[in-house]
Amino acid sequence: MKETPLLDRLLQLQNEKLISFHMPGHKNGKIFNKYNYKNFKDCLTNIDTTEILGTDNLHKAKEVIKKAQERASEAFKSEETYFLVNGSTSGIYSMVMAATSPGDKIIVGRNCHQSVINITILGDLAPVYLYPEMDLQQGIALGISPEEVERSLKEHPDAKAVVITYPTYHGLASDLKRIAEIVHQHGKMLLVDEAHGAHLGLSDKLPMTALECGADAVVQSIHKTLPAFTQSSMLHVQGNRIDREKLKFMLRLHQTTSPSYILMASLDLATTIYRDHGKLLMEELLHNIEAFKEKMKNIPKVTVLGSERIGSHFIKSMDTTRLWMSMYQNKINGYQLENRLRKEFGIQMELSNLYGVLGMTSIGNDKEDFEKLYEAMAALSKEKGSDEIGGMPFFSYAIPKRAFTPKEALYKKKKKVKLKESIGHISGEYLIPYPPGIPILIPGEVIEEEMVTYVKTMVVRGMEVTGLKDQSCERIEIIE
Ligand SMILES: Cc1ncc(COP(=O)(O)O)c(C=O)c1O
Repeated sequence: MKETPLLDRLLQLQNEKLISFHMPGHKNGKIFNKYNYKNFKDCLTNIDTTEILGTDNLHKAKEVIKKAQERASEAFKSEETYFLVNGSTSGIYSMVMAATSPGDKIIVGRNCHQSVINITILGDLAPVYLYPEMDLQQGIALGISPEEVERSLKEHPDAKAVVITYPTYHGLASDLKRIAEIVHQHGKMLLVDEAHGAHLGLSDKLPMTALECGADAVVQSIHKTLPAFTQSSMLHVQGNRIDREKLKFMLRLHQTTSPSYILMASLDLATTIYRDHGKLLMEELLHNIEAFKEKMKNIPKVTVLGSERIGSHFIKSMDTTRLWMSMYQNKINGYQLENRLRKEFGIQMELSNLYGVLGMTSIGNDKEDFEKLYEAMAALSKEKGSDEIGGMPFFSYAIPKRAFTPKEALYKKKKKVKLKESIGHISGEYLIPYPPGIPILIPGEVIEEEMVTYVKTMVVRGMEVTGLKDQSCERIEIIE
């Protein structure tokens, strides 16, 4: 075998022994080494099987998969839990479509992941948006106010459900308990994208879980913050607002008929680690993070997002396992910082924007990881930085005007034009800064000048934009 470019690259990276502050939560398998549970890592090829005698069937679970899901339900404190092997995306698709019928309206936090908008296309839904408070300077979504949810429910009494992202990518949590009360008072369903919060039940120092807050259906990316393989997620439900038979049909509709037993087994193992070791590991992690943040206070011109935002901008609590750090004041922008941490120190962060980098920590990280990160940040802080860090053009994140629903826009006749010429026209495409994958423009919305200026400037600064067919981000499809 000569050419295996992907495999070669992955093996090469494995040799670099990178320190992982990104997903997946098992941190290059480190946590599996720690527990070496039934030699899980060594038997991967043997457990990669299909529905044969004795292996049960995800879509008709009666035996071992049913047992594994029930154990997960107990550990994560749901009434019923379903394993997802097509990522949280498939869970979001399924719960939204279980809660709606074609033509329905749903209320959606605008800082949602693109999968929520995509399901409005597949499910032929009309989304109406709740706007979170924004940190305009750093481009970070903050909290969504319960009053805004109430206002929207009164304005749209025909909406079927409310979809909230909790916590955000940056670990910020709105007052979901109050939001749940309001949504239920209005007789609607609360669906929560808790992709980033699978670990919240492990400590009282973290925000309450979405289930504790009263959500009807919750999707968690177990692979992001707990030790499961990429794509392995769970969908939890409680109460009787969501039709579980319809939900199970939607899960069959959106998931493969050949679910990976490796992924399902990794969910089974993640459940055991969560249940048997999770709280202790989380205590250690929070201690390590606190010690790291304390030391970081001595480094000048570095800011680390702390708990100081709690209580303002509708932020009720914060997931302190997220590390948002900026050296912008020291003239190292976020893209440069992410690059330099990786190239000079072998540390890989989760994402960056112009201002800073985000580290996604998990119970798989140990003390040494934080010591190495501190040493790297301390070393970089001694540098003078560069005058080439660039600024962020003002972007208001205001709700764009909508001419068509995302689905209507998808099927309209379109033409490609230069971004500058698109101002004032209706977009046929998404504009999604990636990561974090939150759309700033959705098909069917009117293109504003500030979006064009923002995207054109930020692409030059290093921001990745997805959603456009034109990979160079110079042209966009508009509706004719
Ligand atoms: C908030 C949020 N929701 C949903 C998803 C989709 O999750 P998955 O990649 O597991 O399908 C992501 C992915 O990054 C996300 O950030």
